[in-house]
Amino acid sequence: MRLDKYLVHANIGTRKEVKELIRKSRIKVNGVIVKKDDLKVDENIDIILLDDEEVIYQKYVYYMLNKPQGVVSATTDRKDKTVLECFDIPLKDDVFPVGRLDKDTEGLLLISNDGALAHRLLSLKYHVDKKYYVKCEKEVTTEMIASLEDVIKLKDETYQPGKVERIGVDEIYLTIQEGKFHQVKRMLHYVGNEVTYLKRVQFGSLKLDEKLRPGEWRSLTKEEIVELGGQL
Ligand code: URA
Repeated sequence: MRLDKYLVHANIGTRKEVKELIRKSRIKVNGVIVKKDDLKVDENIDIILLDDEEVIYQKYVYYMLNKPQGVVSATTDRKDKTVLECFDIPLKDDVFPVGRLDKDTEGLLLISNDGALAHRLLSLKYHVDKKYYVKCEKEVTTEMIASLEDVIKLKDETYQPGKVERIGVDEIYLTIQEGKFHQVKRMLHYVGNEVTYLKRVQFGSLKLDEKLRPGEWRSLTKEEIVELGGQL
């Protein structure tokens, strides 16, 4: 793989930043300063140093994206922009969004290539909380909250009780553990309200970094990876 790609995947910086490091002679490959960012390196054999410290290649990558509206949670799409196209770095070929948010939903989406972690986070038996900020069309009444916190049985689907925190007259945080199709929207519809804006703010232990504007991303910190159950 190209040296600049290797350095980006090792979380050294963005493509622009790593090219700058190479230009400033701060990168050595097998003891020799390199100036070519397209030099081919073998991650299993070559020793790559930044300022004489070894750069360890990461097999697994973990990114937090603040998904914007209008973008689909897929790796490819014939019509719409995908969440992977929000990234301004070359991504590893095997990354995917861990779970889905609707096209018009914003907020926290984990992008990774760690299939085992994705399985744990999405499997019902691990009871992973997903917390949403929900703006509603009208007042969220005490009766509505009680219904959202009870089992909801629809003709084609059953939802386990959610947990509601009221923030304003027409605004709540709703935490659920399932991630069924249009679940939050359908739960609110069932209790006699409608969602006008939906944003995921937490996924398991991972909280949306409020510094990220819609469409922006960052790598998870080591602490976030460990807490979520990923591999360093
Ligand atoms: N529930 C929804 O209705 N939509 C989402 O995108 C996520 C949860």
